[in-house]
Amino acid sequence: MTRRLTPPPRAFVIGWPIKHSRSPLIHNYWLKTLGLEGSYERIEVPPDDLATFLASMRDNGFVGGNVTLPHKESAFELCGRRTATAEELGAVNTLWLDGATLCGDNTDVGGFLASLDAEAPGWAQHCATAVVLGAGGAARAIVQAILQRSKSTIFLVNRTREKALDLARQFAAEIVVCDWTELSNLLEKADLLVNTTSLGMAGQPALSVDIAAVPARAIVCDIVYVPLETELLHAARHRGLKAVGGLGMLLHQAVPGFERWFGRRPQVTAELRALVEADVMAATAGKI
Ligand code: ATR
Repeated sequence: MTRRLTPPPRAFVIGWPIKHSRSPLIHNYWLKTLGLEGSYERIEVPPDDLATFLASMRDNGFVGGNVTLPHKESAFELCGRRTATAEELGAVNTLWLDGATLCGDNTDVGGFLASLDAEAPGWAQHCATAVVLGAGGAARAIVQAILQRSKSTIFLVNRTREKALDLARQFAAEIVVCDWTELSNLLEKADLLVNTTSLGMAGQPALSVDIAAVPARAIVCDIVYVPLETELLHAARHRGLKAVGGLGMLLHQAVPGFERWFGRRPQVTAELRALVEADVMAATAGKI
């Protein structure tokens, strides 16, 4: 009779609230299709409990997990080691243990790049000018991603100008802070337009952007994936522009964490995409 020496690895996604997270669907799909032992659980952790939760994760059999709102910055502070990308962003979304050391990475940058590479191959070679809407945590990751791959001038458009200025100051590259009123003039120069705001998300106000001036060569991205087809993406497709939704980023950002916790690099397959799309469509049916 063989005795199990180590229990199957457990991983988590923590947030507050957390019930809408689609990460369990993704990771449990990979565990099942790769035939691996282990689990991935959704756990609601209030901000005051974050430090205790992370300090006891090893005792509870966790090898790591994902971190979502509002814990990305606090978890960053609690890490004993972080990747260079996480250091640059000041936020983590992926945690793992190296011995007793809590380590953190931010895979949103790589997730956005992998998604664009898959859906708009060669995009960076033609990206001289990017227009980024928003200046929150997601915008920081997107700006970092664009600059990692291209020498684009980035026009950063945000409701709160001060937040955009703060973000721009953190990067050595050319980032021009603009107001929404300037958007129509900016769009005619855009090779890449990315919405990183929550506008257009189910339950949020609409994103009212007239993309008539966007050049035919431009790629239009929306990191919102609920609904799957935002008004921005719909308008872009209607004009025949390349349109990239937020679901690819969600799927690709999950890959490095899974590999660290469970030891196999998973694939973002058409089957996985269809599974998550069906879940988003079921959740949004009748609500939009
Ligand atoms: P995330 O981490 O997802 O980026 P966030 O840090 O809260 O979330 O950022 C949300 C972004 O959406 C911000 O750029 C925010 O603009 P402000 O910096 O002015 O708050 C933008 N946003 C949210 N609601 C908005 C609205 N009603 N109008 C314009 N911008 C909005």
